[in-house]
Amino acid sequence: MAAKPIIIDCDPGVDDAIALLLAFASPELNLLGITTVAGNVPLSLTAKNARKICELAGRTQIPVYAGCSRPMMRSLTTAEEVHGKTGLEGVDLPEPQMPLQSQHGVDFLIDTLMSSSGEITVATLGPLTNLAIALIKEPRIAAKIPEVVLMGGAISQGNVTASAEFNLYVDPHAAHVMFSSGIKLTMFSLDVTHQVLTTPERLEKIRAIATPVGTAAANLLGHYSSRDAERFEMTGGPLHDPCVIAYLLQPDLFNYRDCYVEIETASELTLGRTVVDLWNSSGRSPNTKVAQTADSERFYQLLTERLAKL
Ligand code: RIB
Ligand code: CA
Repeated sequence: MAAKPIIIDCDPGVDDAIALLLAFASPELNLLGITTVAGNVPLSLTAKNARKICELAGRTQIPVYAGCSRPMMRSLTTAEEVHGKTGLEGVDLPEPQMPLQSQHGVDFLIDTLMSSSGEITVATLGPLTNLAIALIKEPRIAAKIPEVVLMGGAISQGNVTASAEFNLYVDPHAAHVMFSSGIKLTMFSLDVTHQVLTTPERLEKIRAIATPVGTAAANLLGHYSSRDAERFEMTGGPLHDPCVIAYLLQPDLFNYRDCYVEIETASELTLGRTVVDLWNSSGRSPNTKVAQTADSERFYQLLTERLAKL
């Protein structure tokens, strides 16, 4: 079967880094390019970190682009307390030698989608600023995107406020653009990513790969997981972004429910909240496939097996 053409938009960030490594190790995916956005850390660092991970995995042929340096309307909120000052707490990777592409990430999205003869799936792992701006600038790209698979949102508790998840909190207006676009969306919210926990046992299996990539992944996850495990009183830290890539590889790792989802963009109290109409109270047609449950054992088997290939 031909490899699926995808573009990954991300804000590396530790879990973004693991998601990139999983994509690099998966021949089922044809990664056309990586666009970076301000989120976990400022754009200068997300654009650098994406290249550091490409070089770690020997994937320097994959072009990396810098996109938007701030959300559409709000000022930038970052998460150094989660990902460290560099955005890749736990490893000290060399300064990247591969170039950052000169084209803006938004224009790469537009040009690649408009010039493609076929469809391209877009996987978003950070705030949706780049994709929303691309869609506003060139609405015709919608016809070339069969699916946007996104990590973001919260049906129950948020992780930045009680009601909002980080990616959609950072840029709720971009999220509104995407959730009202009519493009097929598949959403991995905190409700499912909090079922995918990097427990000590799973972390040790990754560390036992004992390659530069395996060791780096274990060191990244070690720091990242311990904080969240403690904060959320769980047996391990939730692993958010790799769920998006795992879905593209093995969709039966999860199950789903089609729902109408809307984004809160006005209330300061609940800004960025995904209002997920699970029981169709609104009578509105579903606009999102919402992941509900995860087979976390099989997820970590896939992740560990693929990381060992790099
Ligand atoms: O809320 C978790 C999400 O926000 C993840 O994508 C993490 O990398 C941050 O971007
Ligand atoms: Ca992310």
